[in-house]
Amino acid sequence: MNKQRRRILIRSATAAAATALGLPALSARAGGEERAAAGIDVHIELHAMQDSVAIRPGAQTRVWRYQGKLLRGDADTLDASAGTYLGPIIRVRRDQRVRIDLINGLPESTIVHWHGLHVPEPMDGHPRYVIGPGKRYVYDFTVVDRAGSYWFHPHPHGRTGKQIYFGLAGLFLVSDDEEAALDLPTGPHDLPLVLQDRTFDNANQLTYLSQSPTGEAAQGSQHRGMMDGDGMGGMGQMMARMMGVLGREILVNGRPSASLAVERRAYRLRLLNASNSRIYKLAWHDGAPLTVIGTDGGLLAAPLQRDYVMLAPAERVDLWVDFAHWPAGTEMTLQSVAFEGGMGMGGMMGDAALPDGAPFGVLKLQIQHGGSDKPALPPQRLSRLPRPQPRMAVNFDHPKVFNITMGMMTWGINGRSFDMLGVSPLETVKLGTHEVWEFRNDGRSGMMGMAMAHAMHVHGLQFRVIGRSVAAATSRQQGTVRAGLLDEGWKDTVLVMPGERVRILLGFKDYPGLFVYHCHMLEHEDAGLMRNYLVKA
Ligand code: C2O
Ligand code: CU
Repeated sequence: MNKQRRRILIRSATAAAATALGLPALSARAGGEERAAAGIDVHIELHAMQDSVAIRPGAQTRVWRYQGKLLRGDADTLDASAGTYLGPIIRVRRDQRVRIDLINGLPESTIVHWHGLHVPEPMDGHPRYVIGPGKRYVYDFTVVDRAGSYWFHPHPHGRTGKQIYFGLAGLFLVSDDEEAALDLPTGPHDLPLVLQDRTFDNANQLTYLSQSPTGEAAQGSQHRGMMDGDGMGGMGQMMARMMGVLGREILVNGRPSASLAVERRAYRLRLLNASNSRIYKLAWHDGAPLTVIGTDGGLLAAPLQRDYVMLAPAERVDLWVDFAHWPAGTEMTLQSVAFEGGMGMGGMMGDAALPDGAPFGVLKLQIQHGGSDKPALPPQRLSRLPRPQPRMAVNFDHPKVFNITMGMMTWGINGRSFDMLGVSPLETVKLGTHEVWEFRNDGRSGMMGMAMAHAMHVHGLQFRVIGRSVAAATSRQQGTVRAGLLDEGWKDTVLVMPGERVRILLGFKDYPGLFVYHCHMLEHEDAGLMRNYLVKA
């Protein structure tokens, strides 16, 4: 028997053994992978890992982070330049098929959620899909969403807040032909700005409740949360765990005291609030209006002018600004201006140094010399954005009501906390239909009488906001934010202030299965303010 022939026989014997064991034969599997790979436009290995990075002068900070490795696709698909610990910016085009292998190098289980994307259920990062340390999860989906600023982050139940806080988050930017035809600022003039708040201890380490990124408990003395300094650490921790963690420093793209040089020309600023629980009320320091061109799910129909814009956790907003409006040498500050916060006890929550609703600077922009003296205007038509048609909903006359509730120290929706596979009849919808839902923050959601804002997010789709009403008792508080609420455009996360009721129109197309909806104030989510909804075929 010649060698060639013998090799073939051995190989087929191996294949037969594999078949007997119910495993795909090696050669057949390799062939299958090749065939599958033929349709894949982008292939990334995404490593979740522990690392140390320089954030502040002095000691490096221990973080958890995503690192990407591009195995297939255009060289500009992965951009690791944006931050010190933030994940790479992933840039894809609509209709591209993307394969992403999540490799868990963390000491605990995790899973990735593609926030805002319309993907099949096994690709959405439901907490039940968590993988343990050393394991791999393969995502394979086609990007069907419109151009926009989406993002990705972990979603293990009960630990999402901690994992994002220690650094796991990245932008997922989608472009399409409609957007490309607009001639919006691109390249260095298309600036992603990820806003986060963090607290560092004296050794430059991140403090999150009583946890540290190495797994051991952080030193009590390092945590300066509410009341901790008064020897009531347990109480402070408990409050922050329930109400939300606020950091005392603002980081932009992972850096403190952010300052950027800009040219006297038009820019697109893509803002993402990737903070755990902080809400921003964004405005220019000189009172110039903000020009809004996009929200969570991409471009608006036309630009809007606002004196300020509210940005709740997980929300995105695209601003258009031409710095030729100001003389060279001007220092512009994008700031968060004061508002009556959603956390009733204000400064006592998280850190007295920077309470909810306090004013602070976010980013400084130094306008350089040169450039044009004629500021440009943004395109007056941005995208095809149909008006929402609430009558499409099967329950147009009877919105489903979702009350945000708190009882026995756990958050819930209609009195129920998260339950891994649990879903109520109210939470069951039919594939191919539209529904109207109403989130009610009627004040039953407070603790010890405190009223809290919530940022309600629905997985797997983009919805439209079709109504917002407020109880008279809280209208003064809501009045300090009202003019900055952006209910236009496609949304996946919506701020619901104390006393507010917000109505949304949702369409359940393409993908059956179990998805979650929850508050994106991560400590609320981790403490049970999350539920499943089931799309039934
Ligand atoms: Cu960004 Cu379940 O969320
Ligand atoms: Cu909440």
